[in-house]
Amino acid sequence: MTAMQPITAPQTFDVARIRQDFPILSQLVRGKRLVFLDSAASAQKPRSVMDAERDIYEAGYANVHRGVYWLSQRATDEFEAVREKVRQLLNAREAREIVFVRGATEAINLIAQSFGRAFLSSGDEVLISHMEHHSNIVPWQMLCEEKGAKLRVIPMNDAGELLLDEYNALLNERTKLVAVGHISNALGTINPVKEMIATAHKQGIPVLIDGAQGVPHLTVDVQDLDCDFYAFSGHKMFAPTGSGVIYGKREWLEQMTPFQGGGDMIRTVTFEKTTYAGLPNKFEAGTPAIASQIGLGAAIDYLNSIGRERAFQYEHELLSYATERIGPIDGVRLIGTAREKASVLSFTIDGVHPHDIGTILDQEGIAVRAGHHCAQPVMQRLGVPATARASFAFYNTRAEIDALALAIEKVIEVFA
Ligand SMILES: Cc1ncc(COP(=O)(O)O)c(C=O)c1O
Repeated sequence: MTAMQPITAPQTFDVARIRQDFPILSQLVRGKRLVFLDSAASAQKPRSVMDAERDIYEAGYANVHRGVYWLSQRATDEFEAVREKVRQLLNAREAREIVFVRGATEAINLIAQSFGRAFLSSGDEVLISHMEHHSNIVPWQMLCEEKGAKLRVIPMNDAGELLLDEYNALLNERTKLVAVGHISNALGTINPVKEMIATAHKQGIPVLIDGAQGVPHLTVDVQDLDCDFYAFSGHKMFAPTGSGVIYGKREWLEQMTPFQGGGDMIRTVTFEKTTYAGLPNKFEAGTPAIASQIGLGAAIDYLNSIGRERAFQYEHELLSYATERIGPIDGVRLIGTAREKASVLSFTIDGVHPHDIGTILDQEGIAVRAGHHCAQPVMQRLGVPATARASFAFYNTRAEIDALALAIEKVIEVFA
């Protein structure tokens, strides 16, 4: 198959229709139709999300939680309505278990600081995995250094799957928290988090799931998973930058001290003593990203309107197609071949640096990520300095994957 295919899709998912909701996708880049294959870094936004952000600034904007006047109350209502939408998205028990943050990085730092302050001491251990994004490594490393605790790492095999026997063996009475990614951004591996959480809970150990790549590609039910914390960024699930969520079980959040001090998180302040607000405000110091979070609400509505399950299934078909189409090309090595994968095709080409791959693909209007994907330990483990990474969303097409395959063949020709 060499020629560009017309945009096609399984009957159940009208991708041509969906693409009309994303104005950026009809752009020309270097004279070619943009082929955007970097949604794992940040996803494009549907028009309804942009409209929601603009609408709030045009007709409903004021600071939240403060004003007695109509506009502030309206903004507060819209803002708080998003909390309920997120609660439904994650199937959390209560809206106060949903804390708004700026993204997954801030979410994980919040837990590291607030949980760490309350529950971690010298000699304790935090357990992460070898395939974590730096955002789920560095905050724990910083905390462990501060507390004299130890960071331990669940190993993985060459396919990019966690070794569960080793995981079980690493859990012990000193383990105070497990923090693991739902889906690896570098490899696409879907980790068996439900099973991992159940194992940790047998020893009374809480588990944080880094869902930055989970929420955009899977239906997440925090009650079914039984995770203690679940972090995600809005911008990877079609919402504006600056929006994000940390879900936490109420029992944990209530026992934790605030992350940052400031306005909105207090009940009373004197110079002698401050008492803190209840959940979730205790963790939301300062003016939040009001318009961005309202955009997150619109993104959730959008996903519901197109049918999340169908969209995720379509993405899965795209990944299978891309794996079949690109994997066998002579000189291409797929990095990350786990049995359970979502959305990500990382690869190298013999004798070609991934940055050169990215640059040549860019000449064809194809946007992929080249580098270590903020997961340097993954690269070290698999013996590559970097990879090229195509990542898919439900607005991508088979024709775009064909274009990618053709462009990869071109790269190989150029470097032959
Ligand atoms: C798995 C994973 N965790 C955390 C992050 C950090 O997300 P953000 O930069 O939006 O805070 C990312 C971003 O790429 C990610 O892929």
